[in-house]
Amino acid sequence: MTGLLAGRKALVTGAGSGIGAAIAEAFAVEGADLCLADKTTGVDLAEVARRCEEQGVNVCSVRADVADELDVARLFSEAEAALGDIDILVNNAGILTECRVADMSVAMFDEMIAIDLRSVFLCCRAALPAMERNGFGRIINVSSQLGQRGGAGLAHYSAAKAGVIGFTRALAREVATQGITANCIAPGPIHTALSAGLSKEWIASVSAGLPLGRFGVAAEVAPTAVLLASDPGGNLYTGQTLGPNSGDVML
Ligand SMILES: NC(=O)c1ccc[n+]([C@@H]2O[C@H](COP(=O)([O-])OP(=O)(O)OC[C@H]3O[C@@H](n4cnc5c(N)ncnc54)[C@H](O)[C@@H]3O)[C@@H](O)[C@H]2O)c1
Repeated sequence: MTGLLAGRKALVTGAGSGIGAAIAEAFAVEGADLCLADKTTGVDLAEVARRCEEQGVNVCSVRADVADELDVARLFSEAEAALGDIDILVNNAGILTECRVADMSVAMFDEMIAIDLRSVFLCCRAALPAMERNGFGRIINVSSQLGQRGGAGLAHYSAAKAGVIGFTRALAREVATQGITANCIAPGPIHTALSAGLSKEWIASVSAGLPLGRFGVAAEVAPTAVLLASDPGGNLYTGQTLGPNSGDVML
């Protein structure tokens, strides 16, 4: 533990795998107590919780579907009962499906918007009362570089992730005077369970076009979340989109 986040209480969604698990572990190393949320609380989440607890922080794990309004309300009440008020929220949970627009069902489009965009609204709305009461909050929303550049076969995902960026900018303006910041991380392609579902053709063509020539790993994304959550490192960022993306998008 190095203590950059000592005394903070963080809730990370989608913490059972990939980028969310890496962020949770990086936060634990920095001393934050953690609520780990995922739609299942199986072996993977228990293992992430165990690794975080090894850092000497308090950890609670909650099963919740972050696309569901009632589940999100229960998630925050269980998190606050276990840890107290949450001061850092990482909206990381997400899914990825692949389909051309011409072939896409309304159900596939709506599922993506519910899980990758509406969840961000639901969790922010649940977190804000305590952050406003305490005059401090750090909201970190995991978008994607595909929300900036678009991806063929991924219009629904690109739309949801662009929506996360727009939502975050608006929220950042809304809460700036209350000591609350809201920012996005828009990773490029990262080796996780999520990207393993993409077609080989898509992975090959994306890798060839990346200036750094490779996918990243989750441990290369987590330090950006630590920066945004930390004081003083994160203090002046709000409404921003930080891009650990192998150079795929240069703004
Ligand atoms: N891997 C990449 O290349 C990449 C690139 C850019 C952005 N992202 C984004 O990073 C985030 C994490 O992705 P990852 O690559 O670590 O994927 P992952 O599949 O390894 O992890 C996602 C986690 O979210 C959970 N989850 C999914 N739906 C949920 C729901 N409705 N309620 C609660 N939990 C739910 C899953 O159970 C899983 O544990 C996602 O938002 C993703 O869009 C990933």
